[in-house]
Amino acid sequence: MTTLIINIKQLIQIREANVLKVSGQEMKTLPLIENAYLLIKNDTIVDFGKMEDCFSTKAETIIDATGKIVMPTWCDSHTHVVYAGNRVQEFADRINGLSYEDIANRGGGILNSAKTLQNTTENDLYQQSLQRVKQLIKLGTGALEIKSGYGLTLEAELKMLRVIKRLKKEQNIKIKATFLGAHAVPTEFKNNKSGYLDHIINDMLPQIKAEDLADYIDVFCEKGYFDLDDTKRIMEAGMQYGLKSKIHVNQFNSFGGVKLAVAHNAVSVDHLEELTTNDIEALQNSNTMPVALPSCSYFLSIPYTPARQLLNAGLPVALATDFNPGSTPSGNMNFVVSTACIKMKLTPEEAINAATLNGAYAMEISNKYGSITKGKKANLIITTPIENYNYLPYAFGENCIEHVIINGEVV
Ligand code: NIG
Ligand code: FE
Repeated sequence: MTTLIINIKQLIQIREANVLKVSGQEMKTLPLIENAYLLIKNDTIVDFGKMEDCFSTKAETIIDATGKIVMPTWCDSHTHVVYAGNRVQEFADRINGLSYEDIANRGGGILNSAKTLQNTTENDLYQQSLQRVKQLIKLGTGALEIKSGYGLTLEAELKMLRVIKRLKKEQNIKIKATFLGAHAVPTEFKNNKSGYLDHIINDMLPQIKAEDLADYIDVFCEKGYFDLDDTKRIMEAGMQYGLKSKIHVNQFNSFGGVKLAVAHNAVSVDHLEELTTNDIEALQNSNTMPVALPSCSYFLSIPYTPARQLLNAGLPVALATDFNPGSTPSGNMNFVVSTACIKMKLTPEEAINAATLNGAYAMEISNKYGSITKGKKANLIITTPIENYNYLPYAFGENCIEHVIINGEVV
């Protein structure tokens, strides 16, 4: 199967195969070709260049992209898209004056979602999650990470992870699975947090390993949830089972979690709405990707991750949705990119780099995803006719996506 896309107004995010992430000043540049073509063979990008050098006209499918932009699909490295029901009542409660923490303290929040999920069958959970994944693909996402963490019992965590495994197997999209047993302390262990950690380490992890259900391990490292000692225990236990970590940290408080995660070679540290100079220093000379989640900040009205400070320190930044029922009921990466420009003052180039190549890096798949590179997967967005790529974040709320191509197939 060959597909040739011709007359592309701008073919953006062109990278050499050895560029696996971009940092600091490099993020200001978004390499592109104007008036370009791109050739796909089966699921792979095999060639591209300027239209005047396009000699292969024998493709089985030809797509004319006159006036349109072609770019890699979004790489969403932080989601909780497998969940049951919703938390629309808490949304209304927050508007009426309760805080996210107030709601959690009275048994709402993560524990509320866990209760709903525990009472949902595996098949129903799969169907609910599948609808969301299909919606994400339409919005241009071509690779995503999905966390557990709304189960909080052995049985329910396994149910979530098995649903993720089934999505991996049955859906034509790249998925990475993260075990987030340490998302909240369940009611049964209310006064025995360390007992819950033992349960995660001694009962959940071995079973997850036996069924090969996770690629990474995560902890909600936050005041009122899991402290530094807890986080260290979980990361170290994960390492015993070959799971690197991706950590929820610094959402509401900065108390050393970033340094700890970096010291344990975390693949990413995510949220970072609260960031100190110590955190930035800890990230320097590390391989850990800082991940910002601006639609969570938007929805909860909390500060935005100071991405500019990270970039000024020469660090990379990735952008992801955090799609979940409590703090971010949206998996729209187009909105994330717009919000990063509008609220975090990233340039369109920086935001697009953060949401493609650096997002792929935060899932350790940037050798195959996240840029227009010969040999990478043909996961592409073809936009509607637009002026240039700046129009994407500018026209927030407008759907500028005409086609999504996943593994070489138009969805
Ligand atoms: O990433 N911060 C922790 N976990 C999720 C939200 C959890 C929830 O409210 O359901 C997050 O924002
Ligand atoms: Fe999250």
